[in-house]
Amino acid sequence: METPDNAGTALSPHLRAEIDRWIARFPAGRQRSAVIAALHAAQHENNGYLTRELMEAVGAYLGLPPIQVFEVASFYSMFETKPVGRHSISVCTNISCMLCGGEKILAHVEKRLGIKVGESTADGRFYLKKEEECLAACCGAPMMMVDHRYYENLTPARVDEILHSIGTASGQKKEHSHD
Ligand code: FES
Repeated sequence: METPDNAGTALSPHLRAEIDRWIARFPAGRQRSAVIAALHAAQHENNGYLTRELMEAVGAYLGLPPIQVFEVASFYSMFETKPVGRHSISVCTNISCMLCGGEKILAHVEKRLGIKVGESTADGRFYLKKEEECLAACCGAPMMMVDHRYYENLTPARVDEILHSIGTASGQKKEHSHD
């Protein structure tokens, strides 16, 4: 792959290797097609969010103008462009979930964590990302997604159990990693 000499200097060696691995999956000269995977890897390495510098560096590495990288990062909901809590929560409030108490579940999550949609907890453990528009699990309504895992047939008590177990596991991991 041909990239400018200084391209990717803001990217760690591990990240460059990861991006190269994705580039290799596309035909020669089509490295730009790896932009989503590259941003995903960059976000993962940067504690769950993308900075402007990171997006520019990814663009330079792939030969993409920064604006095209910003467009991708702002279009897909899996990308964050500000620091957020480690565990991402999305509660579905579309019709099936709404009819089965989805809004009550959302209100309970907000109350339990002391945050509103779009906010993270002060300890950095949880991010209440959004109200979802149907995650195709209507038969398990009401439901929510935490870190891409579905939790269905929710009740406030079940939400408490889930958040407690995730928060506890997260705290233990943090203690062990000493970060
Ligand atoms: S309406 Fe909630 S999963 Fe479909």
